[in-house]
Amino acid sequence: MMDLSKKGKMLREMRKACGLTQKQVADRLGITAKTVSKWETGRGFPDVSSISSLAAVFGVSERMILTEDITKNKVQAGNIRRTKFYLCQSCGSNLEVMGESEIICCGNRLRPLSAKKADSSHVATLSELEDELYIEFSHDMTKEHYISFVTYIGFDKKITAKLYPEQDAAIRLPKIPRGKLYFCCTQHGLFEITTG
Ligand SMILES: [Fe+2]
Repeated sequence: MMDLSKKGKMLREMRKACGLTQKQVADRLGITAKTVSKWETGRGFPDVSSISSLAAVFGVSERMILTEDITKNKVQAGNIRRTKFYLCQSCGSNLEVMGESEIICCGNRLRPLSAKKADSSHVATLSELEDELYIEFSHDMTKEHYISFVTYIGFDKKITAKLYPEQDAAIRLPKIPRGKLYFCCTQHGLFEITTG
């Protein structure tokens, strides 16, 4: 017997990780927000056709929605979303760490960066090219001031790409489901935008 209330909590977490409301999920599936709410409170479970649409919306496998091993899913997904970003001001190294750690670089203890909403001097333009996502920044790429990395975080996926000074302020990633995109400026810190 499936534990529907646990499944429901799982679905809610997947939805929140994507930054979607119940209504937005419902609209994408062509159903009512009330149905989504029922699933999340364990008073129902998506039928076969909804499971594949839901998996597509959340960017996870159908198996992940169906699996009985919710704990494993949660641990993996939770760790990914607890990723912390560090930037050493002395040597310019970036670090990404899942969970709690003490990070020392160049003899200094680093503090995790907190992400700000992208501002008018840190704009990322996203466009989809077939199976890829093309991200372009309108930003300096000088040695003193550049975008140093881009990280996409979805429910159970994390993709990181590094950028280098004196090169294009643009990068291609595999096409990704809705999630958070982080990028780091060597002078102004970490920024975030929601994709999809
Ligand atoms: Fe900047």
